[in-house]
Amino acid sequence: MKTLVLANQKGGVGKTAIAVQLAYFFNLIMKKRVLIIDLDHQRNTSKAIRTGEIAVLSQLTASLLLSTKIDISDVEDAEFVLIPADNAELLRMEKQADKHNSFATNLQSFLKRLIINSMFAS
Ligand SMILES: Nc1ncnc2c1ncn2[C@@H]1O[C@H](COP(=O)(O)OP(=O)(O)OP(=O)(O)O)[C@@H](O)[C@H]1O
Ligand SMILES: [Mg+2]
Repeated sequence: MKTLVLANQKGGVGKTAIAVQLAYFFNLIMKKRVLIIDLDHQRNTSKAIRTGEIAVLSQLTASLLLSTKIDISDVEDAEFVLIPADNAELLRMEKQADKHNSFATNLQSFLKRLIINSMFAS
């Protein structure tokens, strides 16, 4: 598995813009399955992907993913899926510093199960 990180401390330099373009590139050009999880309360990724009207909008939300143990079978079975950011809830969670470790653990566990599942998918 390859990991690509788009990181820059400065805001507004195009991290989200590039991530969105990569998602379209992987799905439309490379024919890969794409799951976007937007954890940013600004919701810029969610807005851009929803505008494109190609990805399936998940019934799950980013805050739900962070705060509960989500079953991966609850993620829509589609080629291109967006788990959208939910602004107010993510902002509220950002202020709950004592729970950040548990939020990170939930996300990590979800991603692990998703990756293992995709490795054994036909
Ligand atoms: N290289 C670029 N060419 C054209 N437009 C750009 C470029 N980089 C950024 N933009 C535009 O600037 C705005 C901010 O970019 P973007 O939201 O991707 O930044 P960001 O790094 O994700 O910011 P943040 O740290 O706030 O999340 C967007 O409207 C985006 O389309
Ligand atoms: Mg951004």
